[in-house]
Parts: sequence; structure tokens; C-alpha cells
Amino acid sequence: MKQDLSQAPGPIGVFDSGYGGLTILSKIRELLPQYDYIYLGDNARTPYGTRSFEIVYEFTLQAVNKLFEMGCHLVILACNTASAKALRTIQMSDLPGIDSQRRVLGVIRPTVECIGEITRSRHIGVLATTGTIKSESYPLEVHKLFPDVYVSGEACPMWVPLVENNEANNPGADYFIKKYTDALLKKDSQIDTIILGCTHYPLLLPKIKQYIPDEIEIVSQGEYVAASLKDYLHRHPEMKVKCTQGSRCAFYTTEAEDKFIESASTFLKEKINVKRIALE
Ligand code: DGL
Repeated sequence: MKQDLSQAPGPIGVFDSGYGGLTILSKIRELLPQYDYIYLGDNARTPYGTRSFEIVYEFTLQAVNKLFEMGCHLVILACNTASAKALRTIQMSDLPGIDSQRRVLGVIRPTVECIGEITRSRHIGVLATTGTIKSESYPLEVHKLFPDVYVSGEACPMWVPLVENNEANNPGADYFIKKYTDALLKKDSQIDTIILGCTHYPLLLPKIKQYIPDEIEIVSQGEYVAASLKDYLHRHPEMKVKCTQGSRCAFYTTEAEDKFIESASTFLKEKINVKRIALE
């Protein structure tokens, strides 16, 4: 159904199933501090990583529509699971009917683009949620750009709960970090590059490094997504003029506001105001 959306310039929307997208938002704001942003976390329905294709698509489309209604012309899905399971359908099937001038971008393509220059062995690994691994999105995207690169993936279903429950730096986390990193390295001993294909995982990086040989490069996606957005806005001046520049950032959540503020402090080192909204 065609919506009556404002054509006035607006903030850039950043969506995640929960808190993890804040790691991406931080890197984007570091590189492009001049723009206005709206962060939306579907915290009431997180995690997405274990949900079916249909549900992730339905929830993500609701969030995208909400960000469009809030005035965004450009929305970043700062969630690998949503990028893997919903982005393409939204781009191909939904956007033309909503507003063909609005854009939704994901985090997988920008992350994959950097791989060609990093790997020497042409064997890479991906650590991500079960949903992202099962979708095969990383191997599919890698092979579009670099058909010679061999990709192994390992699902890490316990890592998001470790971060969300503030256990990332505690000794209990080591068991599950070693479990999944060992399993990945066992699949292919020639891996020289590992993508952290989930927005929460940068918070586990100090521990992940302990279980991965020093010579293996670990790719956290925030910087690559930020650089790719900068490049996108440079290449698309028609979109750039639709993004307001006042260095503001508003936060919205589908959960209780105080819960978001408490947990977001793990990801952000600033004081924030947040408003609760409903997605439907
Ligand atoms: N943000 C999600 C991702 O990057 C992880 C959290 C979830 O499972 O919802 O895949």
C-alpha cells in the first residue's frame, strides 16, 4: 500500500534487532558526525538470529516502514541477520511500492568488499548467528565478488546472550568463545581472515583474540560499513541532500526505556535519551 511519506529531508535511519547495531552506529557517527541519525532497536523481539526467514523479514519491514514514517530516506540495516534474511526482498519487492526513491542498505556487502584485499590464502571464516550462517549470505556475497575465495562459517548462538547479559568479559565466556572459534578453525586450517559477522561480536573481540592465532586477521565490520556509507553518499548526491546535517541522534526502542538505557551503556559511552515505540 502506498504511504503518504514526507519528502522533506530527514535523519539517516539505523536499525537493529537490539543493541548490537550500536557498534555500527558508533563507527558511522565517528566518520560522518555531521548527519542526523535515528537508531531503532527492536529490543522487545530480539534476538532475530534464531528466527525464521518469514519473521525476520516481517519484523524488519515493519521497522523500515516506521523509520520512513519518521522522515528517513535512507535506512541502514545494522544487523547481519536482517541484512541476510530481509534486505534483498525489501529492496526488490517492497521499496518500489513504498517509495522508489528511498533506500535500504545492509552490512554484509560492505564487509565482504574488503575481504579481497585482506586474505592471502583465499580461505576465510565467518562467525555469525545461526540465521546468518544458515542463510549462506556471506558465501553468496563473497563468491559474487571473489569466486576464488573459500568460505567456512560457524554459528555462535551463545555469543549474543553473553554480550546482552553483560558476561562478555567474565571467565564463563571463555568456554563458548573457544568452542566456536575452535570449531571454525577445525573446518579449514588455511583460514587467514575471520569476519565477525554479527554486530554484537566486536564486544567479544579481546577474548576472541585469545583463541585465534595472531597471524589471522579479524574483521570487525563497523569501520567498513561506515566507509561504505561515506562512499555511497559521495556517489549519490541526490540522497545526500535528503539527509539532514545537525549532528543529532535520537534513540527508539520497542522495549522499556530504562532497560534500553541500562543495556545500551555496554555499547555506548554517552548519556542518551530514548523513546519507546511500537512496531506493527
Ligand atoms: N544484530 C544481530 C546480527 O548482527 C544479532 C542479534 C540477533 O540475533 O538479533 O546478526
